[in-house]
Amino acid sequence: MKFLTLLIISIFCSSLMARDPISGSRFQQLSGMKIPQDSKSQWDQRYSRSNFIYGKSPAHFLSENYQYIPFESTVLDMGMGEGRNAVFLAQKGYKVTGIDISSVAVKKSYLLAQEFGVKIKGIAASLKDYKIEPGSYDAIICFYYVDRSLIGKIKEWLKPGGILIYEAHTTKENRSRSDEEGNFLKEQELLTLFKGMRVLKYEEPLHEKEFRSSIILLKE
Ligand SMILES: C[S@@+](CC[C@H](N)C(=O)[O-])C[C@H]1O[C@@H](n2cnc3c(N)ncnc32)[C@H](O)[C@@H]1O
Repeated sequence: MKFLTLLIISIFCSSLMARDPISGSRFQQLSGMKIPQDSKSQWDQRYSRSNFIYGKSPAHFLSENYQYIPFESTVLDMGMGEGRNAVFLAQKGYKVTGIDISSVAVKKSYLLAQEFGVKIKGIAASLKDYKIEPGSYDAIICFYYVDRSLIGKIKEWLKPGGILIYEAHTTKENRSRSDEEGNFLKEQELLTLFKGMRVLKYEEPLHEKEFRSSIILLKE
């Protein structure tokens, strides 16, 4: 009887552990929901772990669609984190600058670039006040860093003909229901945020594990 109880408990525990490790905590990690968006010290603390908290592989939407960015272009990665997307693009021949408020994240992005034998330029600064000249980049990518106050600047930083690839979770992913920081996009919001830019591709799938909204836009 005792053996049977132990067996049932161990099956129950292993079924819990077998659940997809990505969804719950990764959702909070990617959305940054528990961290005030501009808290350098809290982002630094989160990135102080030795592992790469978002992994080393690029976001799926980027690896599927990076060819929208003309070959060998200059690319800005906003809120680059530990560099998974920046390093991927550098491997594909792009000249990538990544900006992140966390100096710890930027250091880790250099380690990742070294590991993959490529070069990226990392800048530890807040995008809210870092000065970027208008028309500086052929393309901008922004993954899971939502700051609506930067929309006008993003359009300005792009060259005419420039490409923007942007992805973040939608409110459907927000299990806590409170989003004072505004880190989640409203459904379809991305289609209206970048007025004057042409939509080349839009996805807001409802059948995947995570609720996200992804867009590719052209500055005409
Ligand atoms: C959820 S993480 C996403 C990281 C990365 N884009 C990715 O997908 O792996 C959000 C990132 O935005 C950065 N961030 C937050 N506020 C920022 C600011 N004002 N300027 C630049 N980066 C900022 C954080 O340090 C963090 O690395």
